[in-house]
Amino acid sequence: MEIEEIGGVKVERIGAHSHIKGLGLDERGKAKFAADGLVGQLRAREAAGLVVKMAKEGRLSGKAVLLAGPPGTGKTAIAVAIARELGEGVPFIQLSGSEIYSAERKKTEVLMEAMRKAIGVKVREMRKVYEGEVTEIDIKTGSSPYNPFVKVPQEAVITLKTTSEEKKLRVGPNVARQLVEFGISEGDVIMIDAESGRVSKIGRTQESYTYDLEAEQIVPRPDGTVLKEKEFVYVMTLDDLDNMYARRRGGFFSLLFGVGEREIDPEVRAAVDQQVKEWVEAGRAEIIPGVMFIDDAHMMDIEALSFISRAMESELVPIIILATNRGITRIRGTEIEAPFGMPLDLLDRLVIIVTDKYNGDEIEHILRIRAKEEGIEVSEDALKSLRKLGEERSLRYAVQILGIAGVKARSEGKKAIGIEDVEEVSLRFSDVKEAVDHLRKYEEELLK
Ligand SMILES: Nc1ncnc2c1ncn2[C@@H]1O[C@H](COP(=O)(O)OP(=O)(O)OP(=O)(O)O)[C@@H](O)[C@H]1O
Ligand SMILES: [Mg+2]
Repeated sequence: MEIEEIGGVKVERIGAHSHIKGLGLDERGKAKFAADGLVGQLRAREAAGLVVKMAKEGRLSGKAVLLAGPPGTGKTAIAVAIARELGEGVPFIQLSGSEIYSAERKKTEVLMEAMRKAIGVKVREMRKVYEGEVTEIDIKTGSSPYNPFVKVPQEAVITLKTTSEEKKLRVGPNVARQLVEFGISEGDVIMIDAESGRVSKIGRTQESYTYDLEAEQIVPRPDGTVLKEKEFVYVMTLDDLDNMYARRRGGFFSLLFGVGEREIDPEVRAAVDQQVKEWVEAGRAEIIPGVMFIDDAHMMDIEALSFISRAMESELVPIIILATNRGITRIRGTEIEAPFGMPLDLLDRLVIIVTDKYNGDEIEHILRIRAKEEGIEVSEDALKSLRKLGEERSLRYAVQILGIAGVKARSEGKKAIGIEDVEEVSLRFSDVKEAVDHLRKYEEELLK
């Protein structure tokens, strides 16, 4: 249907985690060893299952979830799985603790925007519309009021037909112009919003369908009366609403210059919140809290972290999931050492899930799943060699090497990744530790 779709939930690209479909739990919330793309890490997955349950019952407010564990132990993977479990259409916003710093915008503004992108609002609206199959259409043109040499549609008379009635309508220049623009002709099923005059073409009826080049939707002739009340459902995020509202208030100049990177002022957000609350109370809207996932949360400084703990107290908040691979570390922006580099007032509100290192068999299993996801076969000895990389360096590194080796093998026309591909690729690309040692060596030389 060609009804205006405002905003909508954006799909996050999550490349390395595309094999994850859920938490892989049974009905009782017990984790199966390997299911939904996840392997092992049972305790963390079961805990995550409880988090999902709490979120669904709305009992996570005032709290945030922290995933803590060494690098490559599936923290990001589990956050992605939580989002999958919450269901389709639930917003999932992923950002990294370091991403909030930019030269143009305040970090609290970046966080606020992310938070509002992670809250969906499903709005139901009843509207009066004229709907039917066009059986007659007559468009009258006249001189444009701005330019006498240009002819523009001035009014139109159309007949709309449903299964039970037929109605002749006289429409003004606004609707007539849209009829011309959309190329509406006899046999089209259209809808005209009674209040705004917005025209939408729904499709063509079976009888009048011609095998045009344009792929057109075949639809039945609508039933009921021509003028009717219809329910429309839109899913937007609070951020979409903020932008729409800001644009409307911005007037003519905001249309000319756009509101792209402009900051939304707090009054706009307050007005949107108020509006949404009224809709909810009137039963016209429903809030869909999504997930705001902040990876490498220890990269946030004290101001950003305090902002998060304050935000958790407000009424409209998404489920906040933080992840870190640091133990005791300095809180950025201070001289204070604290667990995960986080201040006490935030720590107090965290539900903590820890992830453990994988053993060799688990690593191998995960690598097999990844290979399948990348759509490439891996020879047994190549897999063993990848497993060794995973055990000795990190799972993340092994997954990366697998991806690159896959590209290499494919470009050479091979059907499967061989051990020589893995060895060659891992020789060329270093893991973090190796790269750091490398740079350190040069730094020391420079200092001499
Ligand atoms: N239990 C698991 N089952 C299946 N795949 C997994 C599992 N754990 C991790 N992975 C995959 O292994 C790779 C590395 O894991 P991930 O990035 O989630 O680790 P991390 O704990 O977030 O690491 P870092 O601290 O470096 O951010 C990813 O591709 C991830 O999808
Ligand atoms: Mg991660």
